[in-house]
Amino acid sequence: MIRFISFEGGDGSGKSTQLELLAGYLSRQGISCLSTREPGGTNLGKMLRKVLLELRDEPISPETELFLYLADRAQHVQEVIEPAMAAGKLVLCDRFTDSTLAYQGYGRGVDLDALSRMNAIASRGVVPDLTFLLDCPVEVGLSRTQTRSSSHASRAAAKGKAEDRFEREGALFHEQVRRGFLELAQADLARIVVIDAARSIASIQQEIVMIVEQKLATRHSAK
Ligand SMILES: Nc1ncnc2c1ncn2[C@@H]1O[C@H](COP(=O)(O)OP(=O)(O)OP(=O)(O)O)[C@@H](O)[C@H]1O
Ligand SMILES: [Mg+2]
Repeated sequence: MIRFISFEGGDGSGKSTQLELLAGYLSRQGISCLSTREPGGTNLGKMLRKVLLELRDEPISPETELFLYLADRAQHVQEVIEPAMAAGKLVLCDRFTDSTLAYQGYGRGVDLDALSRMNAIASRGVVPDLTFLLDCPVEVGLSRTQTRSSSHASRAAAKGKAEDRFEREGALFHEQVRRGFLELAQADLARIVVIDAARSIASIQQEIVMIVEQKLATRHSAK
């Protein structure tokens, strides 16, 4: 039975695009789902998201950053994810606990075991049934986010928003994050499916739909 799917991967790998496409597909199939994201899935989280991503010129220590993400998650799980799952919805979440391990652990160097324990507290033990790791070369993802920033240039300028704090990090940081995600996938093959995200939007979507269909069919036959 799948009730919770997370989308993970580096910046610009296509998480939000694929989540939206899957949500559209599922609702056309009559499956009730809830799309949400981290950070920013609650009112409190929206404020934390601004601090985490848009406060570009203010130094934030790795530990401060970590606790802000965990605060966002704790609120999100209790206020949004658990109630939606309890109401029988299929929850689709843009980033979850694996992002903390990849960015704050592999990227910033915070101890991975400590992070896992803190993740468990913040998520109250909620673990996705299925995680899509959208994996592509760092430069592919970053060039997509740059295209997105320039194509939204007027809107972004109006909001004073350009690259976020992570998009500003160097290539090495993003390579460490990518390696981290891939190691996490290797360690949890039952949950995390690595998707080659350098392909077209349509072919990635096809693969994701196929995998979700298989999981849903398992659910029905298990009933
Ligand atoms: N497979 C793809 N091929 C080409 N362009 C893509 C692909 N997937 C997404 N894009 C485009 O790349 C940009 C980034 O995609 P998207 O916002 O879905 O990525 P993301 O992983 O959610 O990024 P972020 O980490 O910044 O939230 C968008 O402009 C999107 O239209
Ligand atoms: Mg996104």
